[in-house]
Amino acid sequence: MFQQIYQCEPQVEARAPGRVNLLGEHVDYNQGVVLPAAIDRAVYVTAAPTSDGVVTLHALDLDERVSFQLSEVDKRHDVDGRALPGWALYPAGVAWALQEGGLSLSGMQAVYTSDVPIGAGLSSSAAVEVAFATTWRALGGWSIEKLALAQLCQRAENAYVGVSSGLMDQFASACGVEGHALCFDTRSLEWSPEALPPGTAIVIADSGIRRNLTNSAYNDRRAACEQAVELLRNYMPEIKSLRDISSVELAAYSMYLPDEICRRAEHVVKEIHRVDQAVIALHRGDAQMFGGYMFSSHKSLRNLYEVSLPELDALVEIARGLPGIYGARLTGAGFGGCTVNLIQAKDAQAFMQGLQEGYLRQTGREASVYLCKASNGAEARLVNPRR
Ligand code: GLA
Repeated sequence: MFQQIYQCEPQVEARAPGRVNLLGEHVDYNQGVVLPAAIDRAVYVTAAPTSDGVVTLHALDLDERVSFQLSEVDKRHDVDGRALPGWALYPAGVAWALQEGGLSLSGMQAVYTSDVPIGAGLSSSAAVEVAFATTWRALGGWSIEKLALAQLCQRAENAYVGVSSGLMDQFASACGVEGHALCFDTRSLEWSPEALPPGTAIVIADSGIRRNLTNSAYNDRRAACEQAVELLRNYMPEIKSLRDISSVELAAYSMYLPDEICRRAEHVVKEIHRVDQAVIALHRGDAQMFGGYMFSSHKSLRNLYEVSLPELDALVEIARGLPGIYGARLTGAGFGGCTVNLIQAKDAQAFMQGLQEGYLRQTGREASVYLCKASNGAEARLVNPRR
């Protein structure tokens, strides 16, 4: 396809996966620990360098093309002075953030495609960012720590695209390890791959629901957490984030917080604690215990953080009654998208069929349900190296 579009040979092929978060939801911007895994759905970029500083992107899935000049990427316009389309802001933002980070980029001609469902809570945008960052790295021949690359991609999303996400998604896409979840401390930035309990599998169920309010609701939740910290500092001046508060302390000071702020803080404080416990469960290989934390996480996201929807609740409740289930919860920011299920691997087929049938019966909607393989993070390879 690249050759057909650009009439020349590509030089780099890059891949960056989406992610599913097993536990630790809405805690990455509160300095908590998260447990995502990179998945076997990804963004694929094929590219060749150019010498004129122009980046031409062809989005195969949209059949759209745009060109912009690297030296003017901060203006967010294409080579003809028109505003960049929404989809192009992600790669352009990466170009901006990498250059701001002092890295030298070449222009490129690129095609890209993705099989990460968009807006489903599986980090399709982080995958685009990390795929392009990885492509530029390969074209430029420079090296950079995976985590530093993820941070630059997060900067692109926060400061250029204008979505104030945490670091979890870009981290998982950059650092994924095949067959493992990633235990990532968003405060110390330390992380380790963690094996899933033996005999288990991850199933993702897409409710098919997409809501546009995700960004504004996400920002509201972040603001509520910041407000909680600010109010609690009157009583505990040393705290820096909700990571620094125990649930006993929160209960003691809850009367000084408005109800809604208190519910949001309670979710975060307890979710951070749940992740600590769930990591112990992983070390013991105890799938039942881990799954129990997933169910409680969902309940908390539904009742306290209020980011669930009836369709996601239905998927979780149906899963609870199926053979082989250990735990289920919504994954990602919420307001639609997917649930993640930890199940006994041997029951996978019956489980997936039961979930699809139950969801159709209860909601009249089709869910896409698939077995997910935890995958390696982003990588690039040189093709047709210059002779
Ligand atoms: C989105 C954000 C992440 C994280 C999750 C919620 O995916 O991009 O940084 O905050 O929501 O856990």
